[in-house]
Amino acid sequence: MLKTSISTVLSEQVNAEYYSAYLYLTMSAYADRAGFKGVANWLFVQAQEELAHGTHIYQHLLERGAMPTFADIKLPQTEFKSIEEVFAKTLAHEQHVTELLNNIASVAMRENDHATYNFILWYVNEQIEEEATADELLTKIRLIGDNSALLYNLDTELAARVFTDPFANKTA
Ligand SMILES: [Fe+2]
Ligand SMILES: [Fe+2]
Repeated sequence: MLKTSISTVLSEQVNAEYYSAYLYLTMSAYADRAGFKGVANWLFVQAQEELAHGTHIYQHLLERGAMPTFADIKLPQTEFKSIEEVFAKTLAHEQHVTELLNNIASVAMRENDHATYNFILWYVNEQIEEEATADELLTKIRLIGDNSALLYNLDTELAARVFTDPFANKTA
């Protein structure tokens, strides 16, 4: 049975992951309408991953005998000025998520809940890649500037991303 302090932060993280999905969806819609179909695809896949992250925590809560708590999902930013802004916000958001996950790991350690600590480590480790990828895309888009041929190449590259369920081979 989970302590309330643990089920609370895990429930909040389900909400944060669903919020992330919603944020990436607003970005994806912006990119699509701006003609960057590849960027839109990359962000859509990103949103799908975030949904999978949230759902996996939700399932974990039930498996540990806890009742998930629910709350409103905040409305994310819906207007963007450029693809550069989208990637800058992506990096800032992923850095924020890393802080949330580190906090869960700290709470789990404090409560001596090794199972939750072990569970959340996957997420903490995943953030290394999340931040690195966002940082790489932001750097690329800044280097590209307004070179439309290079922008087109990057968009084509990002069109290739496909969603794979990160938990396909895992049990909760
Ligand atoms: Fe996530
Ligand atoms: Fe993420």
